[in-house]
Amino acid sequence: MATHVWLIATVLSFTIGLTVNACPPSDRAALLAFKASLHEPYLGIFNSWTGTDCCNKWYGVTCDTFTKRVADINLRGESEDPIFQKAHRTGYMTGSISPAICKLERLSSVIIADWKGISGTIPACISSLPFLRILDLIGNQISGEIPFDIGKLSRLTVLNLADNKLTGRIPRSLADLSSLKHLDLRNNMISGTLPRNIGKLRMMSRALLSGNRIYGPIPETISYIYRLSDLDLSLNRLSGSIPESLGKMAVLGTLNLDGNMISGPLPATLINSRISILNLSKNAIEGNIPDVFDQRSYFMVMDLSYNKLKGSIPKSISSASYIGHLDLSHNHLCGAIPAATWFDHLEASSFMYNDCLCGKPLKACS
Ligand SMILES: *[C@@H]1O[C@H](CO)[C@@H](O)[C@H](O)[C@H]1NC(C)=O
Repeated sequence: MATHVWLIATVLSFTIGLTVNACPPSDRAALLAFKASLHEPYLGIFNSWTGTDCCNKWYGVTCDTFTKRVADINLRGESEDPIFQKAHRTGYMTGSISPAICKLERLSSVIIADWKGISGTIPACISSLPFLRILDLIGNQISGEIPFDIGKLSRLTVLNLADNKLTGRIPRSLADLSSLKHLDLRNNMISGTLPRNIGKLRMMSRALLSGNRIYGPIPETISYIYRLSDLDLSLNRLSGSIPESLGKMAVLGTLNLDGNMISGPLPATLINSRISILNLSKNAIEGNIPDVFDQRSYFMVMDLSYNKLKGSIPKSISSASYIGHLDLSHNHLCGAIPAATWFDHLEASSFMYNDCLCGKPLKACS
């Protein structure tokens, strides 16, 4: 009898112990399969991945407190963590991201960032993780395409795949990511055109696509994204003209279109918009600089260098409230440089290599 009671008590406490502490064996198995396809030779970040309870002190793993399911994988190769300070180095990891990760069906964030050597592709099954909010794989060697049905991730707020080797097009379904706030695909080899339905991304505040091979026009629908504050499409192969509507956006503060093949005129709307960082350098923008500067014109950066602008620098530029860094070099501008109080800090290099500009800070007009 006594043994019986004792046995029941042990079984009970064991089960309670299990439900309170341990992660489900299937989650643990998935993590171990994930680990098995990676190789981290210098820091030993996976040394803690032992024992049955993956929710307890497994480096970079966090579980949901109620469900005990794995909720976050947070592995950053550049971090202040003591593990890095002790080793006096940043992280380096090779291998690939195993599709086993998709068995962790309660995952909310997957951050596998700055390991420099992780290659392979993004597991296609990642788009079937219904609770995923953050997917951050920046700074690896990941190749292949963005999963075509990525748009199924209806809770995704951050998609950061920058600094990898991704190819292929931006999937049309991307525009279905109705929670997306931060899109970073910089420095890959992504080609194709920008999805025309991109304007559906109503929550997006930063869209960074610089350093790819994206061609074709800038869709006018981008201006429907009324929370967009930072648009970086620089160093691609975009052509066509700049949609006038970009200058009418409510909070767009940074617009970088430099290093493309954009032609057509400089829209007047950009001159007195909310934009304070404007880089249109190295395109084929033609025509005059619109004479519409006013008190609303406040630029930390206005770089219009290396285009085909002609005519004179408009007189109204002196009524801009501020222009910090102005670069009008390498165009076909001509005539006297207007005077403005904030012009005092500008150097000759801002105006050089034009057809016939003159006056301070260049040599006096004759
Ligand atoms: C503007 O873009 C050009 C070309 O990409 C770059 O060289 C330049 O540094 C940028 N200007 C500023 C002020 O950042």
